[in-house]
Amino acid sequence: MKDKIIVITGASSGIGKALALEALARNAKVALCARNLEKLQAVFREGATIFLYKADVSKEEDCKNFIEKAQQRFGKIDVLINNAGISMRALFDEVQLSVIKELMDINFWGAVYCTKYALPSIIKNKGVVASISSIAGYRGLPGRTGYSASKFALQGFMEALRTELLKTGASVVWFCPGFTASNIRNVAKAADGTSQGETPLAENKLMTAETSAKIMMDAIEQRKRTVVMTTQGKLTVWLNKLFPSFADKLVYKHFLKEPGSPLHKYSSNGA
Ligand SMILES: NC(=O)c1ccc[n+]([C@@H]2O[C@H](COP(=O)([O-])OP(=O)(O)OC[C@H]3O[C@@H](n4cnc5c(N)ncnc54)[C@H](OP(=O)(O)O)[C@@H]3O)[C@@H](O)[C@H]2O)c1
Repeated sequence: MKDKIIVITGASSGIGKALALEALARNAKVALCARNLEKLQAVFREGATIFLYKADVSKEEDCKNFIEKAQQRFGKIDVLINNAGISMRALFDEVQLSVIKELMDINFWGAVYCTKYALPSIIKNKGVVASISSIAGYRGLPGRTGYSASKFALQGFMEALRTELLKTGASVVWFCPGFTASNIRNVAKAADGTSQGETPLAENKLMTAETSAKIMMDAIEQRKRTVVMTTQGKLTVWLNKLFPSFADKLVYKHFLKEPGSPLHKYSSNGA
């Protein structure tokens, strides 16, 4: 990683922030973006190895400018990590369609835009395009229709791109973390598009973003294809392939148990 140029979207919090710190610890140079520049600047100080930029990845122009400015600053891009993402928790029955559109715009289109503008440099440098997906990209999760759709779309995009790049020396990898401690559930969208403002999980019992980042950075160095990062995630992916209707029931049960689960609306006791 020494002197490699690593571009990371959504680096002010959680996994993106941990990835940037891990890249710097491995002597890489980083270009980082988020919508809230002050939050980014509170963690990272701009300097010889760090470039900070305010960008909303749901806007093509912001992505184009971010990637261009990062290249001007460092001369090239070796690795792009499409990390910026948001989540949701609401039944499809109740959610405003604008929430699903916003999730697709950030989680899917944000990755497409950044990849489009970074790809020529990545191919030239035989680099890596990486994206943070989710188990929800293999197995649709209730209360997360828009999130699941965005991650399925992201994985389809990445798989097709990987195949296109097979003979170029550039590589493509996506990661499916399990539940990882971060801000994602606090800011996840409720049915009306507001942030739900709390997490239904005990965040201190989850994998840390730092552990997640180490696994991801190792996998980028080793040019792995895909990393499903937890045993529960691996089991879910395989169970869903082999016994899909059994997986429906297990996944339903799991998410019904979550505090405040929207699935209660449809459960037999109607609570
Ligand atoms: N944590 C988990 O359990 C988990 C599990 C599976 C997958 N993931 C995936 O991991 C990735 C990172 O999530 P996280 O858990 O680290 O969440 P997080 O703590 O909420 O961090 C999200 C980061 O993305 C940025 N961001 C959000 N929308 C953006 C936009 N439109 N443009 C630019 N930056 C944007 C945020 O900064 P601003 O708000 O300032 O823009 C923040 O820096 C996501 O793709 C998520 O789907 C997370």
